[in-house]
Amino acid sequence: MSREIADHLRYYAAMGVSGLSRDPAWRQRTEEVRLKADSTGRGADVASGLSRTAPAESLDDIKTDIGPACMRCKLCTLGRSQIVFGVGNPKARLMLVGEAPGEEEDKRGEPFVGRAGQLLTKIIEAIGLSREQVYIANVIKCRPPDNRNPEPDEVATCEPFLFRQIDVIRPAVIVPLGKFAAQCLLKTTDPITRLRGRRFDYRGTLLIPTFHPAYLLRNPSAKREVWDDMKLVRAILQGDA
Ligand code: URA
Repeated sequence: MSREIADHLRYYAAMGVSGLSRDPAWRQRTEEVRLKADSTGRGADVASGLSRTAPAESLDDIKTDIGPACMRCKLCTLGRSQIVFGVGNPKARLMLVGEAPGEEEDKRGEPFVGRAGQLLTKIIEAIGLSREQVYIANVIKCRPPDNRNPEPDEVATCEPFLFRQIDVIRPAVIVPLGKFAAQCLLKTTDPITRLRGRRFDYRGTLLIPTFHPAYLLRNPSAKREVWDDMKLVRAILQGDA
């Protein structure tokens, strides 16, 4: 119990929270979230019957296949400056999947290095891991103009590369960050509010969707749910859940 409290406080401190509310409405909401998690958080939903295949290629093979100047979809003509392939440990047990690179990621060629990325790094560290230990990638490898949502043809063109990355890394847990990545991997149109707090099977890997860190920047109160999801991720990685 004291470890849980210490973890909890460390997580919130890492994300810049300096106090707790005594407002009864706040506590009521907490209880609702806990009950919801209890009723939805344990059962494994099977989203795909596909089984794992032995990796027949490496991440470098996939990167080479995409090429440094991919022209498979229109994003190549819409201002992207480079491909943002993915970063981290090719043997990671935890893989985090975002939507598409933003401005900073497009400049630096690495996913999640802007403001949302800094928050993601803190979330990863809050469960005792580092960016170097996990693998981070996006569904879409090129920046959409003005950070607009990726379009269906862009997703259809780019998602096979993500699926191949997953098949090579074969993580124990995948955390899709936000609606976009969760819907892409689960092939569903369910909103992220229905998907998070649950575990799914994805080709033999557990998939635990959570909110996107950019959403947390706009809605800090949702950090509570993300912390619940990340505690589940940590427990699974430690063999406790
Ligand atoms: N948002 C994402 O979904 N991916 C990034 O790499 C950066 C921001």
